[in-house]
Amino acid sequence: MINLQIPHATTIRALRARVKSWREAGETVGFVPTMGALHDGHLALVRLARAHCDRVVTSIFVNPAQFGQGEDLATYPRDGVEDASKLAKERCDLIYVPDREIMYPDHYTTMLTLEGPALGLESDFRPHFFGGVATVVAKLFNQVRPDVAVFGEKDYQQLLVIRQMVKDLDFDLDIIAGETIREADGLAMSSRNAYLNDDQRQRAGKLNEILKSFGGALHSGADLTEAQAMAMTAAQDVFDGVDYVQARCATTLQSFDAGKVTGPARVLAAVRLGDARLIDNCAVPAS
Ligand code: PAJ
Repeated sequence: MINLQIPHATTIRALRARVKSWREAGETVGFVPTMGALHDGHLALVRLARAHCDRVVTSIFVNPAQFGQGEDLATYPRDGVEDASKLAKERCDLIYVPDREIMYPDHYTTMLTLEGPALGLESDFRPHFFGGVATVVAKLFNQVRPDVAVFGEKDYQQLLVIRQMVKDLDFDLDIIAGETIREADGLAMSSRNAYLNDDQRQRAGKLNEILKSFGGALHSGADLTEAQAMAMTAAQDVFDGVDYVQARCATTLQSFDAGKVTGPARVLAAVRLGDARLIDNCAVPAS
């Protein structure tokens, strides 16, 4: 159930009618795609879209195509009423909530395949993921046709994958990145943090600390292989599993040749706490 205080569209036709009326009035349109269970990180993106555009559309769609077998599609947190009231406070102009039949009707067959920044890191552990993300985001872009779309640096690899897709497929819009919004102990806000019990929640804050000291060591000229091994050991001490802790080129996400950081870098990690999986990243300050 969506709170009717804020306009919402559930069909492509209703969405397009609303956007068309804004366009006819000469207004620009910003877009924030989400999967709902909104927190301050999402709302900061809505504010950023509002700062760049006259109108803001936020979509809420838990996209089955980006969940693998055994992942949390069924249990992913959903709270349409709460989301609508948060978006109303941010003066979002329209919530777009398509259902599964609208996004993936019977006989739907098209999926994007990706290389470049989509290779490695998340793809090594969730091979279906970026194909599903890029496909749904391409569809949403075609449905909304925004001037600007806003994505969070929290999902840094996703941000680069979307930028690459926009370039490769000639989407006529600008991608703007919003910085990661964090809890007081540094934990990046995430809808999935709701899965953490008290003990896991306490340990979760260490991920950002580990990444910051990894980035700080690289900034001070530490050897990449040694610094990475230290960050990996620190993460293994705290978490139940570590998928990766790596430093990559900040623009291409490629590994550095000869294990030496050259140019802008980003440190990225994915770890597991019980059934929950956390991802985070931060910039390596320029030397
Ligand atoms: P979701 O996880 O709901 O995130 C929606 C947007 O919010 C993404 O751009 C994400 O990077 C951003 N975001 C999440 N946590 C953030 C935080 N703590 N600070 C700043 N931004 C944050 O990402 C997705 O949904 C989906 O993959 C989607 C792009 C909607 C495609 O289905």
